[in-house]
Amino acid sequence: MMRLLSAILGMAMLLSCSGERTRVETEQPREASQTGSAPIEFSPPSPETIPGSQLGEQIRLGYEIVVNTQEYARPYVGNRLNCTNCHLDGGLNPNAASFVGLAAVYPTYRTRNARMNTLADRVNECFERSLNGRALPPDSSKLQAIVAYITWLSRGVPSGATIPWRGLQRIDSRRPIDSDSGKKVFASKCVFCHGSDGLGTMVAPPVWGPQSYTIGADMARVSVAAAFIKSNMPRSWGWSLSDDDAYDVAAYINAQPRPDFPGKANDWPKGGKPVDSPY
Ligand code: HEC
Ligand code: HEC
Repeated sequence: MMRLLSAILGMAMLLSCSGERTRVETEQPREASQTGSAPIEFSPPSPETIPGSQLGEQIRLGYEIVVNTQEYARPYVGNRLNCTNCHLDGGLNPNAASFVGLAAVYPTYRTRNARMNTLADRVNECFERSLNGRALPPDSSKLQAIVAYITWLSRGVPSGATIPWRGLQRIDSRRPIDSDSGKKVFASKCVFCHGSDGLGTMVAPPVWGPQSYTIGADMARVSVAAAFIKSNMPRSWGWSLSDDDAYDVAAYINAQPRPDFPGKANDWPKGGKPVDSPY
């Protein structure tokens, strides 16, 4: 029902935005499959083909947790979000911080916490920061299920490979960011689904307020939110905003109240500058 409604609304937006088409800028959606010299293809298995075996059951549970975190991992979630609200289409969308291939690049060293991180560590980081929740214990069958799902999505991607579709595709702002202008963008392009109070509606999750991501979340960084919004919002209508509009509206939503994240003070412990990447 939600999906149907959101599809109908998406279509309505699409029609109402069609006059904006000419403003589409140079950035383009990533190709779903790489051609030419790029060695790795974006060709994840579809969730419908998860095997019926015991491992299949685990993978399926992982998929369910990702698309319905509220129901399947309730005790670990402190807001109204599901993983798939940001890792769109269950992590299968190459423009929305896809899960495809990630098992090949973890464990990896990350400057944010200055240590090696397993895939499970990174998943827990999103539970704590993006879902305002808490980390699942290392032996949790749910945590293992999410890792199994991501590992299954990474089949065929060689260990240590560079994944062209990894993370959100960053954009540049060409002038100083203007959150007053972002407020206008929000009113004309976002309120329709996210509500004038930003607290979410039947068809879209909150973008600020107590049920949103924390100040320590990746999405709480303006450059990251701008990248996500540019390529994915309005939903079903990615790449319709100019880069400046995406930055302005990202700055506007990230300036609104949202849950605190006390652990943020300990980020980048080696005193390094925050690195603008998920890695
Ligand atoms: C047609 C409805 C629609 C419009 C318009 C829309 N969104 Fe969204 N947005 C969604 C939906 C639905 C999701 C969750 C996606 C999913 O679960 O597949 C979402 C997710 C998000 C998220 C990540 C999840 C969260 O809630 O934090 C952000 C940030 C966001 N939208 C920002 C925006 C901004 C900014 C605009 C205006 C430029 C906008 N959206 C316009 C429907 C919409
Ligand atoms: C509010 C949005 C949001 C939600 C909800 C969210 N994440 Fe994330 N996640 C992000 C962003 C943004 C990044 C960093 C992407 C970038 O920097 O390009 C990220 C990064 C990640 C990464 C590392 C990706 C990489 O390329 O190394 C993993 C794994 C991950 N998230 C898993 C999850 C899981 C599992 C859930 C649900 C339990 C979840 N996330 C919920 C926004 C979110």
